[in-house]
Amino acid sequence: MNGLIAGNWKMNGTLASARTLAQGIAERISGRVAKSTGSLPEVVLCPPAPLLSVVGGSVAGRSVMLGAQDCHQDVKGAHTGDVSAVLLAECGCRYVIVGHSERRTDHGETDDLVRRKASAVRDAGLIPIICVGETEKERDQGVTAAVIARQMAGSVPRQSQAATTVIAYEPVWAIGTGRTPTVAEIEDVHSQIRALFDGAHGHGAALRILYGGSVKGSNASQVLAAKGVNGALVGGASLDLDDFWRIITACPI
Ligand code: 13P
Repeated sequence: MNGLIAGNWKMNGTLASARTLAQGIAERISGRVAKSTGSLPEVVLCPPAPLLSVVGGSVAGRSVMLGAQDCHQDVKGAHTGDVSAVLLAECGCRYVIVGHSERRTDHGETDDLVRRKASAVRDAGLIPIICVGETEKERDQGVTAAVIARQMAGSVPRQSQAATTVIAYEPVWAIGTGRTPTVAEIEDVHSQIRALFDGAHGHGAALRILYGGSVKGSNASQVLAAKGVNGALVGGASLDLDDFWRIITACPI
């Protein structure tokens, strides 16, 4: 299975900076492909929705995919400010992040809502990147496994298939803090996620599970070499061309 490095730009970027960053990534990838200096993982850029078209235009024809950060669970309707997965597909997206902890916290998104959004993404022919992860308090209380089990049972649609689903393990306490779990802790949770998916949907071995939370060029090789890690969901470091490139090139295929 091919590795996957996704850049979640969150609410950052302007038309000008998005164009420069996306072009920079696309050029480095094309340069690498042209020189045949080794394969690269799949790379996905997830800018804020108004920047999708400029980023899509900048990476068109290159080996870079477009992703969105969220969507509404319905196909259309009276939902001011929301965007449907169907429209995101039409705008060139291949992936949609759902259930990011910032959406769960800032917008009160529940497992049930995340599951409906993931279904909408799938119905639109796109691949959901479904985020799960415990808070610091939950880790301290020793209930990480229970939290992950609850989120997996509630947030992953019943009809999900491994080939068209991505799970991102993002411990909330590691996001934007510079702190990361140990490799053993990451491996533990990834193995739990794979077993849960396998039990509920089958083909767990084919599921791509990303790690997210303070992944940088400096720790990417270590994190990405961990057993059961198939790529990374990167926040802050995905806004820096050199750092993001270090992460991309650190990903085992
Ligand atoms: P940071 O890489 O900035 O910690 O963010 C991780 C994240 O939330 C990606 O979705």
